[in-house]
Amino acid sequence: MTICYQAKRDRVKLIEAGKLLKDGGTVVFPTETVYGLGANGLDANAVKKIFIAKGRPSDNPLILHIATRAWLDKLIVEPPQILTALIKDFWPGPLTLVLKKSALVPDIVTAGLDTVAVRMPSHAIARAIIEAADLPIAAPSANLSGSPSPTKAAHVIADMMGRVDMIIDGGDVVHGLESTVLDISSDTPVLLRPGAVTYEQLVARCGEVRLDPTLLAHSTLTKPRAPGMKYRHYAPRADVFVVALERTDAQVAARIEKLKSEGNKILYIDYSAEQLANQLFAIFRNADADGYDIVLVRAVPTDQIGLAVMNRLLKAADYKII
Ligand code: TXA
Ligand code: MG
Repeated sequence: MTICYQAKRDRVKLIEAGKLLKDGGTVVFPTETVYGLGANGLDANAVKKIFIAKGRPSDNPLILHIATRAWLDKLIVEPPQILTALIKDFWPGPLTLVLKKSALVPDIVTAGLDTVAVRMPSHAIARAIIEAADLPIAAPSANLSGSPSPTKAAHVIADMMGRVDMIIDGGDVVHGLESTVLDISSDTPVLLRPGAVTYEQLVARCGEVRLDPTLLAHSTLTKPRAPGMKYRHYAPRADVFVVALERTDAQVAARIEKLKSEGNKILYIDYSAEQLANQLFAIFRNADADGYDIVLVRAVPTDQIGLAVMNRLLKAADYKII
């Protein structure tokens, strides 16, 4: 059975959630990016429950969420020089750092890799729960594997009711896309997943940042370095197409008419990058609930938050552009 709390300002419930995590249970909680499905990240049996609840492939490693710097030092070895500056600028917040792991981190968390992903969320509820547990909390996005990440409590309830021990409803998330993942385990930092901490911000801080070549392009030659990025994530049941920036409104209208005449129910979204970052996943979920056959989404420029938006959108569209 899943206990469900609307715990916006209820400290007692958050302490209860922390205790449940300590005892090996699973708790869904809001973060500033998307909702997370947490378990004790040092307990392989607890972490196993996450994979089962999500139906997640075991070769996809998890992020450990911490509330204090002291925990980071226990989870990693050989901290690179750039680490302190990145923490100072971006923690707590939507930046996940991939570092060489210590022996404390169970293999199930890292899917056997010798690196571990760590993030310090800024969301008050997430922080209170992690502090109460006083543990690193392994937490993927709290969606069923293959569904869009949850940005509202209703999404979590739809996917996770009956599959986890507790759900903390903290209302809508702030950002709406998952955290930026930056690998600093080797000499040049590599951006593995773009998010609300932008490539431009990271370059300003690190000097050089390499882009994983699979961020915007479908590639059968290169495997994405964040194992999770190889899956066809984020996809609704409806067929998604990206509408290229250079298409005129008249061309789009003609295309929509044609698709409609073929019997399709069409949803067309033409938003700014900021709006899409916040709402893309909810749009996909609503499209399925409302029975759309095809979702057309106008592309946005790939600078700033647009890089993260186009990364998620192109994956959902399976790189189909019209
Ligand atoms: O915003 C977020 O990061 C959310 C909230 C809940 O914090 N979490 C989240 O977790 O998005 P998840 O499991 O859905 O995505 C984690 C990503 C995956 O693409 C995974 O492959 C990658 O991080 N990752 C984890 N550990 C890694 C490692 N050691 N090396 C490379 N990539 C790693
Ligand atoms: Mg996910």
